[in-house]
This record gives sequence, C-alpha cells and structure tokens, in this order.
Amino acid sequence: MATILYQDQFLPRDRGRVDMEDRGYQFGDGIYEAIRVYGGRLFLLDLHMKRLERSAGELRLQLPYSIGHLTDNLQTLIEKNKIDDGLIYFQITRGAAPRKHLFPEGAESVLTGSAINLPRRSAPGEAGIKVSLIDDIRWLRCDIKTLNLLGNVLAKQEAHEQGSEEAILHRGNTVTEGSSCNVFIVKEGRLVTHPADHFILNGITRLFVLGLAKKLSIPVEERLFSTEELFSADEVFITSTGAEVTPVVRIDNQLIAGGRPGAVARRLIDAFNEEVARIRTAALS
Ligand code: PDD
Repeated sequence: MATILYQDQFLPRDRGRVDMEDRGYQFGDGIYEAIRVYGGRLFLLDLHMKRLERSAGELRLQLPYSIGHLTDNLQTLIEKNKIDDGLIYFQITRGAAPRKHLFPEGAESVLTGSAINLPRRSAPGEAGIKVSLIDDIRWLRCDIKTLNLLGNVLAKQEAHEQGSEEAILHRGNTVTEGSSCNVFIVKEGRLVTHPADHFILNGITRLFVLGLAKKLSIPVEERLFSTEELFSADEVFITSTGAEVTPVVRIDNQLIAGGRPGAVARRLIDAFNEEVARIRTAALS
C-alpha cells in the first residue's frame, strides 16, 4: 500500500485522516505544490520551495517545518513509494478550528503529502493536444498556489466535455493561462507568454522553459497577447509539471500550425529531454 506523509509521520494510505474542521476542507484555506520526480530526484526543487514560501507569505500561513526538513521528508516519501519518474503532491492548510472566517488562534498548520508514479509523456504527448478556449472566471490572485481551484476545475470539466484535453483561459480579449498550465505562443520565431503577474500562476515549468529558450537563443516576450493572436499563432504549446512542454494542435474547431507540433516546441522538448536524461544519469552514478 502507498505511504503518505501526515505532518511529520509516514503512514499507510488508509490511515491518512484529516479533521472535518480542517480549514483546507472548509474554506480551501491552504496552499500546495506539485513537484516532478525524475530518476527518484525532485526536479527544480528550489524553485518550488521558493514559490511555496511566497504562497505562504501572501496568505500569512505558517509553514509547519523548515524547508530543509520538508525536503528530507519528501525525499523519504519518494523512497518509501519506490518512485522513479513520478509526482509529489503536498499541501499545507491553516489547520483545524471551529468554523469561523477569521484566522484561528493557536491552530497548527496541517501538512499532507503523497507520491505517485507518473511515467513521462503519457498520451496524448508529443503528437499535440486539442484545447478549448474558456472564460477565466477566477479570482484576482491566481499567482498564489492555493487549494481554491473551483474556477480551474469548472474550466477543465467544460473543456473535457467538449472533447479537449485542456482549457485555455481568457479574460476579455486577453489569454491568461490554462486551467492547470501556462500557455505560450510562437510568432515569427518569437516566444510570447503572459507576464508573471496576479492573473497567472508563475509556473515552475514556465520558468524552466524560459531558461531553455534563452540557452537556445529563442527570443522571448513576456507580454499580454490576445485571443486573435492565439488563433493566428505559428505554434501554441502549454507547460506544466505534469505536461512538461505539450504542443497544442487544435483550439476549438481550428487547427494550429496545420495540426502538427511546431519546430520551436520540438526544440524545447528536445532540450527538456536532454536535461532529464542528464538528471537520470546523475541519479544512477
Ligand atoms: N498545475 N497554472 C496553473 C493554474 C496551474 O495549476 C499550474 C500547475 C501551472 C503550471 O505550473 P508548474 O509548471 O509549476 O506545474 C500553471 C499543477 C501541476 C496542478 O495543479 O496539478
């Protein structure tokens, strides 16, 4: 049976229980991170932990353990679950207290975590995916990685019911991000993506891909772009911890880049794969 992390303890999955008055359950009052594991190692760990600390700071939520201690526990969780390529999910809530909106006094933050095997590039993978354009109805602090994901959940479900893998969100004429990913377009060889402000989550994969683009001398513009630019882009792709770099080949009923992944996405995927191969080799030695 899978092992989970509850506070500082490792427990069999069926012994994981949280209080019914946990504020994560009642208010979505908490934060989370999802970190990729390659070859048993936490990928881009420092960036994830920095984002976690930022999310906690923005919500004035106390982290229950030091980053060093938390990292050790996550690494142990990987080992206990024998994860090779996988995903670690963990969340921290403001704890359990009688249901009142105000921050509770004396409640202790509650941490829970789990790890799953997630082989790379599961279907539909590199062939490219279909997405739907959906209204972005979320709140105005999408930069915080909170447990409140209803706007994202509703968008993803609507996209799914339209036969799409993902929802690309727009506020008015502006494309923001996906329901669980960031969005890039390519126009005349230049990468364009929404700036990291309050309207999007600053994805760790987004940051990594911006770094890869720099290494490959691909020009980047972090600026607002419109739904018209999305539909007329030479290429579109999404990035996230799970999806890595995934080309988009169709939006609603319109083909993008003739329905095939584009050359810039291909270069970034190759560079991404090289980096993962390097990590796997290092893990073996
Ligand atoms: N989702 N934007 C949103 C709204 C997201 O939920 C995510 C990630 C991203 C990409 O961030 P990153 O590259 O750090 O994974 C962007 C995660 C994986 C999830 O909720 O499962």
